[in-house]
Amino acid sequence: MRDSKVPARLGTPLSPSAVRVMLLGSGELGKEVAIELQRLGCEVIAVDRYANAPAQQVAHRAHVIAMTDPAALRAIVEAERPHLIVPEIEAIATDELVRIEAEGLATVIPTARAAQLTMNREGIRRLAAEELGLPTSPYAFASSEAELAKAAAEITGFPCFVKPVMSSSGKGQSYVEGPADIAAAWRYALEGGRVEQPRVIVEGRIAFDFEITLLTVRSLVDGETATSFCDPIGHRQVKGDYVESWQPQGMTPTALRRSRDIAAAVTGALGGHGVFGVELFVRGEEVWFSEVSPRPHDTGLVTLVSQRMSEFKLHARAILGLPVDVRLAEPGASAVIYGGVEAAHIAFDGVADALAVPGADLRLFGKPASHERRRMGVAVAVGADVDQARERAAAAAASVRPVAR
Ligand SMILES: Nc1ncnc2c1ncn2[C@@H]1O[C@H](COP(=O)(O)OP(=O)(O)O)[C@@H](O)[C@H]1O
Ligand SMILES: [Mg+2]
Repeated sequence: MRDSKVPARLGTPLSPSAVRVMLLGSGELGKEVAIELQRLGCEVIAVDRYANAPAQQVAHRAHVIAMTDPAALRAIVEAERPHLIVPEIEAIATDELVRIEAEGLATVIPTARAAQLTMNREGIRRLAAEELGLPTSPYAFASSEAELAKAAAEITGFPCFVKPVMSSSGKGQSYVEGPADIAAAWRYALEGGRVEQPRVIVEGRIAFDFEITLLTVRSLVDGETATSFCDPIGHRQVKGDYVESWQPQGMTPTALRRSRDIAAAVTGALGGHGVFGVELFVRGEEVWFSEVSPRPHDTGLVTLVSQRMSEFKLHARAILGLPVDVRLAEPGASAVIYGGVEAAHIAFDGVADALAVPGADLRLFGKPASHERRRMGVAVAVGADVDQARERAAAAAASVRPVAR
């Protein structure tokens, strides 16, 4: 069924016929979504907590608000009256999104409940493991150091991972080898979490062969919601942050089938339309659900070159009720370019060298301030196979040298 609040026709931006789309979070992933929406003549309103965020630079209008403040969020939605609200990050006042959706003020992508459940590791883990019965790592939640120590000893064992329930990109996350590391992990989680009430998830380590992101698209086909799957994306994480990804990641037919079954189950439970990044651990034919983003995924930047339609185009199409094509075009890879320096603004040397690498392309995000480990750009490359694509992406990324200016 076509959602009544998704306009049936596209319009002209900045006119009464415009389809207005509000991005909540305006980083590099939102920037690519904004560009795809612009191409279809949508009116794009980009919101973030700081000025000149990447997607704001390609939007019709930009607003700077505290997106975790329900009153500020409601005020901007009432002022702009978007048809669609597209969360790009997790740190949003999602309870207010639920009210906004319930009142029929706007459609939240994919659904307000999906944004609410996935902003908290506890919500999505309990849904996946306890309601849907999907395989996950052993886990427990803790609200004090003593609870954490007990849970690690009795439920997950060692080694384990400790993560604030509200955090992303590895912030506040520790790999804990034994009881002696628990106190430090608890302290680190308190610093990295987003909320006053400290709470962590502790997860037993899954000794996987590799991990994947299975981009899963819920879109309209002949008026009905259909689920389609991109080829698996392999990736490498350092301290919980992605440094490199490639597509396709080879896997056995059984592991692929299990991955798709898990992805279909969890995205079906979250509902709505759009791209989901389903993170899975794979060992042999065994597959574990890890987490899911109800939006394009950072490891999916590779699809800018490897697929006929990038995950950003797929998201734009799916949320507008338009057809999608998830087919791979050719093997590809991505490699992150970090700031490397602390600076209010930077310049990039070596861009010509990077773009001279065969099959390579770049995205420089235009973020106003650089930090040592801030993702400032990405190199993407195609190749005859994944190995060649990875070499090329890594070579292109290494050629780009951010310098303080
Ligand atoms: N239970 C686990 N077993 C093995 N590796 C894990 C586990 N939990 C996290 N990791 C590693 O840490 C990375 C980041 O963890 P994740 O839960 O995805 O956090 P984030 O939300 O910050 O991305 C994962 O991609 C994986 O490489
Ligand atoms: Mg993750």
